[in-house]
Formats: sequence, C-alpha cells, structure tokens
Amino acid sequence: MPLHIIRNDITAMKVDAIVNAANESLLGGGGVDGAIHRAAGPELLKECRTLGGCKTGEAKITKAYRLPAKFVIHTVGPVWRGGGHGERDLLACAYRSSLELALANNCETVAFPLISSGAYGYPRDQAFKVAVDTIGDFLLAHEMTVSLVIFDRAACAIGEKLFADIASYIDDRYVAEHTDPEEVQYRRAMAFEAPAAASMEKFRPPAPCRAAAGSLAEALGQLDESFSQMLLRKIDERGMTDAQCYKRANIDRKLFSKIRSDIHYKPSKPTAMAFAVALELPLEEAREMLGKAGFAFSHASRFDIIVEYFIAHHNYNILEINEALFAFDQSLLGG
Ligand code: APR
Repeated sequence: MPLHIIRNDITAMKVDAIVNAANESLLGGGGVDGAIHRAAGPELLKECRTLGGCKTGEAKITKAYRLPAKFVIHTVGPVWRGGGHGERDLLACAYRSSLELALANNCETVAFPLISSGAYGYPRDQAFKVAVDTIGDFLLAHEMTVSLVIFDRAACAIGEKLFADIASYIDDRYVAEHTDPEEVQYRRAMAFEAPAAASMEKFRPPAPCRAAAGSLAEALGQLDESFSQMLLRKIDERGMTDAQCYKRANIDRKLFSKIRSDIHYKPSKPTAMAFAVALELPLEEAREMLGKAGFAFSHASRFDIIVEYFIAHHNYNILEINEALFAFDQSLLGG
C-alpha cells in the first residue's frame, strides 16, 4: 500500500529514509528533531554542520548513523502565522522537496512526521490534510511506499464535523455481532449424525437461492463474472488506465498484476473495497463488486460502515477515507 498512516516513533522506522522536521539552522532542536539527533548520535550533527542550513520548504539529506534507517532527510516546515503567509504552500513544498530528494537517492520507503504540527503550531488537522494530499499526489506519479508517522492520536484529528457525522452514521447502523439462533442451531445440528440433523430440518433457513438442478459442470458453467473480470470491465468502462486505478486504490502494482492475471483471484475485503472506491462505484455496484469477492458490507464492522459512509456520500478520496479510518482506530483501505 503506497501510503500508510501509522502510529509510531519515527526513530524506530526501518525504512530507506526518515524525514526530520528541522529548523533552518539544521543544528538540532526539540520535538522530532531532538529525537532523531539523540537516536542517530553525534555524527549526525557533525554532518549537519557541513550543510550550511536549509531554507523553509527545502530539504537536505544526510546519513542516518545509529538509526535503523539509511538516510535522514532534513526539511523545514513553515511556522504557522495564521494561514495568510503562504504557510500551506511552504508546507507542501517541504513534503515535495523531501520526496524528490528521496527519489533522487533511490529510496523506496520513506517515513514522515507531521511536519510543522508541533512547535511550529500548524493546526494538526490542516497539517494532516496537506501531508496526505501532497504525498498522495506524488504517489500517483511515482512508485514509493510512504509512511506518515503520527506520534500522538490528537495529531490526526480529522475535521470535527466529519468525525461527528461518521460517528452518528456508525451509531445508526452498527449492530453488535449477533447470530441467528435458528441458524446457529441448524449449523450445530448438522454437525451431529444424520437422524439428529434430520430432526432439525425445520430450522433449515430457506435457501436464498439454489442452483438449478443439473450437473455440477453445468452449474460451474453458469459462473457469474468474477471479481477480477468486473474490475477490468469497470476500468475499461471508465476509460481509466490500470495504473490510475490501482494508484487511486492505494494498491501496489504487484498486487494489481496478480489480480489482473488470475480471473478467479480472491482479494481481501479492504482491497475489494479500495477498488470499488477507486472506480467511484455507486453503493449498489460497490456491493455487487464486494459480492464477487465473497464479501458484503457488514453493519457489525465499523470499518465497513465508515467505507459505506464515504461511498454513500460520493466521497471517493481514499486518503480522506483512510484519515477517517485511522481516526476511528481502524485498519486502512488498500492492499
Ligand atoms: N516520532 C514521530 N513524530 C514525532 C516524534 C517522534 N519521535 N516526536 C515528535 N513528533 C511529532 C510531533 O507530535 C508533531 O506532530 O512530530 C510533529 C512535528 O513536531 P515538531 O517536532 O515540534 O516539529 P515542528 O512543528 O515542525 O517544529 C520544528 O521544532 O524541534 C524543533 O528544531 C525543530 O525548530 C524546529 C521546530
């Protein structure tokens, strides 16, 4: 999955490059800057002294020394001064410069902190949005795996209104996991010998549908369009390229080629949902696509309800959906 949103200490990340939210002197500081210098050891500061500082929105690279990463990319985010001094553009530049520097140094995996959202005072939900949008745009055009490392839960608060809307959408639909006593009894009975099971026949739920009588071969010959076939058909119908589709789905190329090459491929539920979102399917078609992978939106799952919320509201921005999933402590959409 090209963009991960995770909670961790960035100094622990085993990636090609971690990004440091530094200041223009590049001579260390508090927050994540201080944590990175402490974990890397004194050689990092020694190398930083040779760089001659760094302008806001730009980025410079050093070795990572005692850190598990290979490089540290030092960038400087803007100090928040109310939003009317080009802060958003400067913050986006800091992410872009760091990503371009990582690309130039053949980094395949990069981890970012939420730049400017600490001492520099950038409102966290806005800082989070700039990060996700800028990284997301970059990943549409480049193969790289990026982790946005959130150090504390508050850092990724999605907008209060959106959070409240989703919370009430969940409350209206969420049902605790339940089992149908008849169904459970029937299943248990079928585990016993036939005579006992026969007595439970009356509990057998009406089969929703039964394949028409006939040979198994005939039945198999009537197989519906598979998940993979529907996916490829929908890509063509929308005039999308494969790459546009799997990048919008936040799915990596390797997984997509597995699905493309096997018409019977069974994706995971989050992957199936991610493609339904990438294709911007209306809710009914999203249900159909999930069904072809053997799944359905479950109201016993907050994850499903949140994804259903976004599709029902025709918001197919997978990064916003992942922000919301993350805010509700759910796993993320994508392969
Ligand atoms: N791992 C990941 N994220 C971290 C860590 C860590 N170990 N420590 C802090 N953070 C998070 C903070 O919670 C915040 O969300 O990094 C984000 C950025 O906060 P700061 O480190 O304060 O950076 P910033 O707001 O960009 O201010 C930069 O602070 O540390 C000084 O020298 C730095 O002067 C510069 C200024």
